[in-house]
Amino acid sequence: MPRRSDKSFFCDKKYWSKRKDLILGYYLKPYLPKIATQRRPILIVDAFAGPGKFDDGEAGSPLIICSHASAANAKPLPVPVEVLCIEPDNELYDRLEHLLGQFPFASARHGEFLEYLPEIERKASTHSVFLYVDPFTVEGLDWRAMDRLFQHVGEGHSVEVLVNFNSRSFVRRGLAALRIEVPSIDPDNEDDLPVDAETAESPSLTRLDAVVGGGWWREVLRRPDGFPQQVQAVADGYCDRLRERFSEVCPHPVKALPHHTIAKYYLILGSRSPHALPLINDAMAKSREMLADLAKPAEPTLFETRTFELVPGEDRLRDLLLERLTGQMPRGALINKVMRTALGDYSSTQIRRCIAELIKAGTVQSATRRHRIPDRELVWRAGG
Ligand SMILES: C[S@@+](CC[C@H](N)C(=O)[O-])C[C@H]1O[C@@H](n2cnc3c(N)ncnc32)[C@H](O)[C@@H]1O
Repeated sequence: MPRRSDKSFFCDKKYWSKRKDLILGYYLKPYLPKIATQRRPILIVDAFAGPGKFDDGEAGSPLIICSHASAANAKPLPVPVEVLCIEPDNELYDRLEHLLGQFPFASARHGEFLEYLPEIERKASTHSVFLYVDPFTVEGLDWRAMDRLFQHVGEGHSVEVLVNFNSRSFVRRGLAALRIEVPSIDPDNEDDLPVDAETAESPSLTRLDAVVGGGWWREVLRRPDGFPQQVQAVADGYCDRLRERFSEVCPHPVKALPHHTIAKYYLILGSRSPHALPLINDAMAKSREMLADLAKPAEPTLFETRTFELVPGEDRLRDLLLERLTGQMPRGALINKVMRTALGDYSSTQIRRCIAELIKAGTVQSATRRHRIPDRELVWRAGG
């Protein structure tokens, strides 16, 4: 159950939540028609749903998901789209159930995510499942329970997950549980809203093991690395766990402010679909642009003054493309390689445009010698 203070989350939507929602909506819109081609009904699960709408009128994830499902069902897609939203808090659940009443394809479940995992697992035998996991911190996550669903991936089941993994909170809790000094919040480098670990009871080591699927994190936190490195290393470790099940694992650090060096949390997509990478890359590129806009100087400047991390340069894209282009390869494979190296740094449109410019300049050759080419066409370095 949420603590009283947690409900203040739904008073007004915070800036970083808008980036999180942008990624969810931006991904779902093209994902639905793509996954529908598998001809299995689609189930979208909002596992940590909340009331559906913020007090300031902004859409919460249930409403975002339902509006995309509604548009897909109206088109209509060759298969129906269903939505399932889970919420344990009585008051939030009542609001959620009332809101979902307007969507005949959506239903609310009262209780905790883990209680409904067996139902979701059964549905996965007949449906393509998209699971959205957005807890407040890391409470309510359980790797082994979730992995019972993930292990069907590739056995004729289609499951994708988009998880909000709060590595920062996990590391603070983990340090407390290991009786290692917990660093105080550094407002220059991270979000300075109160961190739950200070108010929540420190969970046991075994509970933390259950969240991330083993005790691998303990060794990471015992290393004398700094807090930012530990936060990154635990997020990387969680991605490695997901990679045991999903061929494409795409993490995106969501920072509260542009100058922060520590992510508030990571949004991580796990998928086996070949369509997932470009779709999530473009969603993440939009999110990065949103953050870069926050850092825009008030007056226009002659040169870009923001960091490369916020505004990755086109020169680097050209270098990346040439580095990754080994031998002859289809353009689509080259694009994927660049996206995996620099996820969300460049949109697919930017990458395609840059390849076309390299072909025009004679640095790269294409099989047909044209610069407007499909993804399957072979490209190679001129003179290579
Ligand atoms: C971060 S909020 C979700 C916000 C929502 N995704 C949105 O964008 O509108 C987390 C929600 O999960 C609920 N919750 C807490 N523990 C849960 C659990 N074990 N299972 C499912 N939901 C839980 C909380 O009551 C809260 O409403």
